[in-house]
Amino acid sequence: MNKIKENTGIAIAHAINDLYPGVEISPEDLASYLEYPPDTSMGDLALPCFRLSRTLRTSPDKIAASLGGYLTADKLPACLSSAKPIGGYLNFRVSDDYLKGTVLPYILERGELCGATEEGAGKTIVLDYSSPNVAKPFHVGHLGTTVIGHSLKKLFEYRGYKCIGINHLGDWGTQFGKMIVAYKRWGDREVIERGGIDELVALYVKFHAEAEVDKSLEDEARAEFHKLEMGDEENLKLWRWFIDVSLKEYEVTYKQLGITFDSYAGESFYTDKMDAQVEKLRKAGLLKIDNGASVVDLSEYDMPPCLILKSDGSTLYATRDIAAAVYRYDTYHFDRCIYVTSSAQSLHFAQLFRVISLMGYDWADRLVHVPYGTVSINGEKLATRTGNVVLLKDLFRIATEKVYDIISEKNPSLEGEEKRATAEAVGVGAIVFYYLTSNRIRDINFNMDDALNFEGNTGPYAMYTYARTCSIMKKATADGIEPDAISGGITTPEERETLFTLSRFSEAVDYAIRDYEPSIVTRYILDLCAAFNRFYHNCPILSAKDAETVRFRLALTSAVKNTLGAALELICLKKTEKI
Ligand code: ARG
Repeated sequence: MNKIKENTGIAIAHAINDLYPGVEISPEDLASYLEYPPDTSMGDLALPCFRLSRTLRTSPDKIAASLGGYLTADKLPACLSSAKPIGGYLNFRVSDDYLKGTVLPYILERGELCGATEEGAGKTIVLDYSSPNVAKPFHVGHLGTTVIGHSLKKLFEYRGYKCIGINHLGDWGTQFGKMIVAYKRWGDREVIERGGIDELVALYVKFHAEAEVDKSLEDEARAEFHKLEMGDEENLKLWRWFIDVSLKEYEVTYKQLGITFDSYAGESFYTDKMDAQVEKLRKAGLLKIDNGASVVDLSEYDMPPCLILKSDGSTLYATRDIAAAVYRYDTYHFDRCIYVTSSAQSLHFAQLFRVISLMGYDWADRLVHVPYGTVSINGEKLATRTGNVVLLKDLFRIATEKVYDIISEKNPSLEGEEKRATAEAVGVGAIVFYYLTSNRIRDINFNMDDALNFEGNTGPYAMYTYARTCSIMKKATADGIEPDAISGGITTPEERETLFTLSRFSEAVDYAIRDYEPSIVTRYILDLCAAFNRFYHNCPILSAKDAETVRFRLALTSAVKNTLGAALELICLKKTEKI
């Protein structure tokens, strides 16, 4: 919880205690009612008193007036300088001394850990994310699971949790029978080695086209998959190779995003772990036969049955997920296991969690599904079947090329490998930032020009602002000037706004974790950049009129650099010192 809100909540709770005997509202609840007024000339924080009028049986105006009358300077916590009623709101002003004397030194001392805590110490969180399907295109639809998942991992780690990131690869299932048939009939090793996933996909597409004409292909594919399941050497080799070819390509994308996983245990990892769970389901009397298939009836929970075994006895996606959840619990003893997938899988996870709970696993309530909406590009929905897909790697490549051209103009001094790496960091960062600006559940229509606009509310703009703080600090070091939070003081509204925005970072992290919503950090970054850039444009830093002001403004710049650097990394962007 934000310290300022926390202390304000406590002060209001005291006031209510004294003014309205017998009524008790917790300081935490009061703190959670506090809002940031859109117009800061009214105050830095506001209590909307209508939220209390039912409990206090008084009109909001009267509540605001009586609380405001009570909360004189001597009754306010150190972080506040005044409390004034305006209509039904009680508006608070945060004290300059607190911003300068407490917030700023804290950030300077903690550096990029200024929003970190140890609240998660001793707790383990498993995150299942990205998880593409092998030999299928890694397309923009996977952007959500990949960056939301990794951002959540970073957020939880920032708060002291031990996190295990798992890439639950879709590396098992009948599609591998099809791949094997297609490869044996039409494949060419060299072509695939060279062309990667695109060539695997081409084979898969060819299989479907040919199978339209020659129905026997489907049987052949089933037979090949069966051989694979039985451990046929040749098929196992091919299957592993398909995975390697795919992984090699995913790795490129993950590297661009700065993502690593702790485990690549995909669906195939659970092939020998499902029987025990199926047996458990059977013993518990949970399995019903439905048209030959074994299912768990969930009608009592208003859900369709969960398919466990097909009529030929083969397992399904859900079967593997049951085994995976049990394995993960036994291995990691997680406090939470979070699955990040498109909302199209919401029903699957609701069924899965219910089945696991019915099986008697008392940790079932630790499973969390974090869904997200669809992505379209320039208004076009993406479908794998029709071949109308935009691959993630292409999106990253196009963005990188465009940024390369932009920085050639903006900063001709940037050259060689540094220029290439910067263009990639900013190009990829632009896409990630754009994606993580909206609430995850909203459907997103992607527009490249908007994402790359250096003047808009974009990744390039935020990364550019970060680079600006770096170059100011570097110049100061070269000139032998040290930042100093103590000597100077707040003399302009821009300095104040920047400091106040800095004080809100930790809260943004709190909410992002509470709601599994990295976009809260993204939007915080935009607020911080806006505040800092106003400060930068209106208040000379290194050329300020006196030495104390220079050092104070440098301290402020350094605090922005730390906070912005930490925040950018939390949403999977790289920190670029020069653009
Ligand atoms: N491979 C799946 C897909 O691309 C996502 C897997 C999500 N994780 C899980 N444990 N089911 O749709």
